[in-house]
Amino acid sequence: MSELFGVEGKAVLVTGGSRGIGLMLAGAFAQAGARVYIAARDEARCRAAAGETGAHPIAVDLTAAGGLERVREAIQARESALDVLIHNAAMQWRAPLREHTGPNWSRTLDLNLRVPFELTLELLPLLEASASPENPARVIHVGSGDGLRVPALETYAYGASKAGLHHLTRHLARRLSRRHITVNAIAPGPFETEMLAPVIEDYGDQVVESIPLKRFGASADIAGVALMFASRAGSFITGAVLPVDGGMSTCGG
Ligand SMILES: NC(=O)c1ccc[n+]([C@@H]2O[C@H](COP(=O)([O-])OP(=O)(O)OC[C@H]3O[C@@H](n4cnc5c(N)ncnc54)[C@H](OP(=O)(O)O)[C@@H]3O)[C@@H](O)[C@H]2O)c1
Repeated sequence: MSELFGVEGKAVLVTGGSRGIGLMLAGAFAQAGARVYIAARDEARCRAAAGETGAHPIAVDLTAAGGLERVREAIQARESALDVLIHNAAMQWRAPLREHTGPNWSRTLDLNLRVPFELTLELLPLLEASASPENPARVIHVGSGDGLRVPALETYAYGASKAGLHHLTRHLARRLSRRHITVNAIAPGPFETEMLAPVIEDYGDQVVESIPLKRFGASADIAGVALMFASRAGSFITGAVLPVDGGMSTCGG
């Protein structure tokens, strides 16, 4: 059974692994015996998270000039191949319709959509070095329920970026299958992280009330699905967008 979901000895990069969902994923993969790399801007938090999980920290702004090359160089310094690439770093921006303009539009699209695409390209040689027909390399996008259905809150740019990421999942899955690289997405519902904190502050119990299973997502919920996509169990799946949302995708916006 453990062979089915095993990731021992795999090299794994989790962007945004210093807190929230990324930290949950980094911790679970490290505990399962993977060599984990986490990338985030705040160096102190990145190092603290690395210390907590046993991961290797890469302090970097993924949207900055040269940021993606720095990530590749940091991984190449220790690894000849990358087995699992998890694109998790993202920003959420909430603003009323009339104020939903200006630089935050491009910042949101840049980090949430361009960066995953270009980081995959940057790391393609390392992914190809790991890929084989029996054991493909894995790319995992962390999307969002807000990209599956119309969000209840005014997150126009964020929702569009995540819907775009889900579509990119299918497009890249088709293109990269010939290189033995799978591309899948997890679309989380509400998890109690810093990103969700302002929503919980404004809407309190209504958030949990809106989830059919009546609770927030937990670390094991998201980690279990990522481990599945990254292990033998997920090696024949590509182009999937899997909601991990306590049933929210069955509801209207
Ligand atoms: N929480 C939820 O309820 C929820 C629901 C649906 C989907 N999601 C998705 O799940 C993922 C993780 O969300 P979260 O709630 O854990 O978010 P979070 O608590 O805000 O964490 C975001 C992570 O990304 C890093 N990051 C942000 N901007 C970056 C940049 N420019 N370069 C490098 N790293 C950067 C942050 O570290 P630094 O700030 O130090 O850079 C942090 O490690 C996101 O893709 C989000 O859209 C979350």
